[in-house]
Formats: sequence, C-alpha cells, structure tokens
Amino acid sequence: MTTVLAIDQGTSATKAIVVDGGGEVLGLAEVPVRPAYLPGGGVEQDPGELLGSVLDAGRRAVARAGVPIDAVALANQGETVLAWDPVTGAPLSPAIVWQDRRSEGICAELDGSGERIADITGLVLDPYFSAPKMAWLRRNVTGEGVVTTSDSWIVHHLTGEFVTDVTTAGRSLVTRLDDAGWEPELLELFGLGGERLPRIVSCDEVVGHTSAFGGRVPVAGLVVDQQAALLAENCLRAGEAKCTFGTGAFLLANTGTSAARSTAGLAASVAWRARGETSYCFDGQVYTAASAVRWMRDLGFVDSAADLDAAAAADSEGVLCVPALAGLAAPWWRPDARASFSGMSLSTGPGHLVLAVLQGIAAQVAELGDLVAADLGRPLTRLRVDGGLTRSRVLMQAVADLTRIRVDVYPSPHATPMGAVALARAALDPSLSLEDAVDTWEPGTTYEPRWSADRAAGFRSRWRDAVASTLPQGG
Ligand code: G3P
Repeated sequence: MTTVLAIDQGTSATKAIVVDGGGEVLGLAEVPVRPAYLPGGGVEQDPGELLGSVLDAGRRAVARAGVPIDAVALANQGETVLAWDPVTGAPLSPAIVWQDRRSEGICAELDGSGERIADITGLVLDPYFSAPKMAWLRRNVTGEGVVTTSDSWIVHHLTGEFVTDVTTAGRSLVTRLDDAGWEPELLELFGLGGERLPRIVSCDEVVGHTSAFGGRVPVAGLVVDQQAALLAENCLRAGEAKCTFGTGAFLLANTGTSAARSTAGLAASVAWRARGETSYCFDGQVYTAASAVRWMRDLGFVDSAADLDAAAAADSEGVLCVPALAGLAAPWWRPDARASFSGMSLSTGPGHLVLAVLQGIAAQVAELGDLVAADLGRPLTRLRVDGGLTRSRVLMQAVADLTRIRVDVYPSPHATPMGAVALARAALDPSLSLEDAVDTWEPGTTYEPRWSADRAAGFRSRWRDAVASTLPQGG
C-alpha cells in the first residue's frame, strides 16, 4: 500500500496532504502564497515564497501524518513561469503568474500566426499560456539561466532533475498537441529558439528522488492542477466534465485518446499521459473566481469567502457583473477586457454586488458548458465540481440554474492533490490500471437547476449583452 505526500502548489496557497493506500488523508497542511497585483495587469509571486511554501507545507503534513511516505507527487499552477540559474537553482526573476497580462503586446505582435499556433498546439494565442510570459521575461527581465514553468524549478530543487510533465508542457503554446513534444517552429516564433528546455515526462513516471520531506523517496505524479482534479473527479471517459473553483474556475472535459481540436473556442490540452497512453481534454477558463472574491473582501463587500452566502442579497435586482478582473478567456479571448457592474441604482447595496459577482462567475461557467457541449456534439448531463468556492451554496445553485444541469460536489476539498496521488500510485505500481489508481467517490452535495429555462435564457442573454458592452472597442 503506497502512502503519498501530494503537494498542490496553487496560485493562492500550497496545500500538502499525506494519503494512505486506502485514500485516507493522514496529514494535511496549507501555507498561503500571496501574489502581488501590479498596475498594468502584472501578477507576480516570490519564487522563494513558492518553494518555501512547498517545503513547509510538505514537512508539516508529513509530521502530522506521523508515518513514512513512499512518494512525493506535485500538482502545479500550469502556466506560471520564472527564470532561474540551473547550476545554483537561484531564481533570476519573480514568478510571473498565469493571470499576468503583461505579455499581451507579444501576443498582439504574433497575431498573424494565431491560426498556425492553434493548429499545432490546440491552444489560443493568449497571455495566459506560458510561452508569451517566457518571452516577456527574456525581453524585459533577464537573458540569463533557464526560463521554465514553476514545476521544473520546484522539482529541480527537490531532485536535481530538469523536467516538466506532459500536461504542463502542453500549456505553453510551443508544444505539439499530437505528440506533446517541443515544437522548434513555435519556439523560434516566440524568440525562445535557443533556450535549454526541460525533458518532458509522463505523469506516471518516477522523475527522481528527494530527501526534502524525510527519508529518500521517489518523486512521481507531476501534473497540472486542473488535469489532476479532472482525474480525481473520475472524468476518465470522453464527455465527462468537471469545474474546479479555485483562484480561477476551470471547466475541463475529457475528450478521449485522440487529440481533438475545439471548434467552439476552447483550449485543447493533454489531460494526462499514463500507461503509455495520452488522454486529452477541452478546457475553458474563468480567470477570476476566488480572485474576484478576494477583491470583494479587500473592498469590504464581504469579510471572507466563508461569508459569501450571508453577504449575498437574495436577488440582484437587475445588477449584472462581468467579473473580468484579469481579462476574459474562452470564447472571447480578450486579455484587454475589464470587469464591470451594470444596472445599479441608488438602492444598490453590497449584497447586490456580491450576488452579481457570483452570478457573473456562474454565467461564465454556463458559457463554457455550452462550448463543451457544442464541441462534443451533445449536451453535458452532469457537472462535477470541486475547489474552495464550492462551499458557497449560492454560487453552486447559480451554476446549476444557469447551466441547467445537475451539479455534483466532490466530497472532499482535496480533488487536485488526490489526482496527483493517483498518478504517483500508478508510477509506483506498474500492475495498477489508472482506473484502479483513482479513488471512487459519491457527491457530497448535489444541486439541481431551479430556474426555468426561460429565466435562465433571459439572464444569460442580458449577461452576454453586458459582456459585449464591457469589451473595449476595436479589439
Ligand atoms: O491555469 C491556472 C490554474 O490551473 C490555477 O489553478 O487552483 O490556482 O486556481 P488555481
């Protein structure tokens, strides 16, 4: 029976859990990380704080578990990048977070190549992905060392290896979707042709060993956090979809083992490569979910995320919010979009604004659900959800009301690290199928749509109009 320390290095916190072979969580620790929000759309993290949070959370979780671990698994943010010295491991830049918009100009320069990039990578040319930010770092910060996603840097510190996993590499705009290898043509296009790049590994691979958390154990189970949650939520068959409500909200749908491209404006990505087989997914993004809640808290609309439901008015009284605080992704792909409230009057209070933000997040998820359905050629019948914001009953009910499908809440707050656990188990036990490596689950809570089809359609139509009037002209 394999006991795994799984580390979920996210945007707002690093969470570590120690899980035994039966799926029981023996130890848990969480260390916050604080992104800096800069004028002009910059979002940065201190690499030292990121690495420190990984070590600190991991060690505390192991101490609380009080048992030896057999492996360390790592889920990562996906598109957050930094420059670092491959000899000393010292950071040479801040970590540029996936929400950072400062490579918008680089994307605009490459606009003419957008279709070619999408053909090769399955992704849309947008500052969200890692290569534009790597190019931005090279132009604006340093030409020294290597420039990689944050997983490579963390794993280097743990093991001395220079690797990234197939799901993280696939979020770069410089890999081929079909075989998940680095693509020289695209590396040249982004001015990254001369870079030393990490070796791309499978998700069920032992990539090295670490003694950072006690005795020397293998590091295995590297994966993007969203794909990890897709796996933990048991979306193993084509058409099964989940949405994780973390810093952002990300709706991913398994598309099977052939590299399908989206025709509806979604990104197409590697879901995981395990047992020598690659699975793919469509993914859609709401760039600010808990970020929007944090923003409301900073403005004093709510005391904390736990107070959301108490703070939200029962009815928004016509107030609409487009919570595009870090631009809009699928299907608009407008990094220049900004958030808006509309429909306010003298009687509008904070509670109306809170509800409007939650409904705005839910409306974006509903748009993504429609895109996935269009791409799959059939409607979604069920949406599995996980992440901290699933504790908001108001938000989850709004998701059910606006998507018009049943919402099943994953019963534990640890979907992402549990996905990494499954991959580490698969890495350590070659006799285990991926299906067997994933724990089965029953929904903790289920939300059924309560709004009529007409009411949902009316709301969504008004909300789309609000998006259209929010978008800067000429984009
Ligand atoms: O693509 C970015 C995303 O994976 C980050 O996840 O959990 O930090 O919102 P999270």
